[in-house]
Amino acid sequence: MQQLANRHVLLGVTGGIAAYKSADLVRRLAEAGAQVRVMMTRAATEFVSALTFQALSGNPVHTELLDPRAEAGMGHIELARWADLIVVAPASADTIARLVHGRADDLLTAVCLASDAARAMAPAMNRLMWANPVTQDNVAALAARGWAIWGPGEGDQACGETGPGRMLEPADITARAAQIFASELFTGQRLVITAGPTREALDPVRYLSNHSSGKMGFALAREAVAAGAQVTLVTGPVHLASPERVTRVDVTSAGEMHDAVLQRAGDCDVFIATAAVVDYRPASPAAHKIKKDRDTMTVELVRNPDILAEVAALEHPPFTVGFAAETYAVERYAKAKLDAKNLNMIAANQVGGADSAFDADDNRLQVYWPGGYASIERASKNKVARQLLELIAEQLHKD
Ligand code: C5P
Repeated sequence: MQQLANRHVLLGVTGGIAAYKSADLVRRLAEAGAQVRVMMTRAATEFVSALTFQALSGNPVHTELLDPRAEAGMGHIELARWADLIVVAPASADTIARLVHGRADDLLTAVCLASDAARAMAPAMNRLMWANPVTQDNVAALAARGWAIWGPGEGDQACGETGPGRMLEPADITARAAQIFASELFTGQRLVITAGPTREALDPVRYLSNHSSGKMGFALAREAVAAGAQVTLVTGPVHLASPERVTRVDVTSAGEMHDAVLQRAGDCDVFIATAAVVDYRPASPAAHKIKKDRDTMTVELVRNPDILAEVAALEHPPFTVGFAAETYAVERYAKAKLDAKNLNMIAANQVGGADSAFDADDNRLQVYWPGGYASIERASKNKVARQLLELIAEQLHKD
């Protein structure tokens, strides 16, 4: 179930006897590689303790909307933004009704209202509550608004009755959650992605570099694999684990990144340059550690090759996507780069200041292509990556 690897799954547990099964669900989601956080309604905590979910998920459990301490940790808006997928399991008749009306008077409903993540629920209730036209109408309304409705199953119920209303088994819910992330957008396509900073040696122990973390490039690699692509990730020095099924090529300097990319770029369908390549390198790095015996020193720098521009200038270039990290006039500079480097698309983000994309877990992008524009709202880099890949696939298949 590789589709769940590193996904942010937010499990909402509501008040019902099936809540005890949600403990097993957390374990299964985590075993499938998902990062799991749990939010509970007050009624849910009457059935299972928050401590159980905390131990199984490895994360604090979220129960209160108006608890300043909890909000200081990860507030409800951050939680909503963090999630790639919200699964409400079990979903009680009451919670379903409250979601239909957009209530936001407890944490679970407020987070659901504030999130643009994929949303699914596994209803669980007495068979007559489930069959009641009110519940059926409510479920239909949520389905029409994009909620996936998983189950309920049929069988013996805790109330002693038999019929539809049982929560689906955790294994089934986990498999359905994985299915949400399966996509065919890039089946059979080869992608080369650059990520991270480069380091340009001043001497054997010092270098010029920048604050790039590589997170955006790694998120794109992970999402592209999930969408069926074969991905080669050429990365500068970063502290990130390789996404599964990605061919990773580690490089240090811009020169090494250039060579690694140009060996492969002629043979790929899409090239995405997220790397923050250092523009200038010391002209002649010292062979030995530079001594501090002078009050000032001058280092001559020479331009590094522009990897992205070179790939775009190949005789048969892949679909090329650049990133533009700007501290101001984002749109103007991004559009200028799109033209100057002859790219198919450019994704611009703001760096520097409180909203900086550098080393952050969230990002927002303004995306330009010849004759088109889209804005990707602030969200986790995984989610932003998925949306950018959708835009790339749209333009790629148009050509
Ligand atoms: O010109 P600027 O450095 O702002 O362009 C940014 C884009 O170009 C990014 O996609 C970056 O990965 C790429 N780039 C590159 N090689 C360089 C400099 C930038 O591939 N030497």
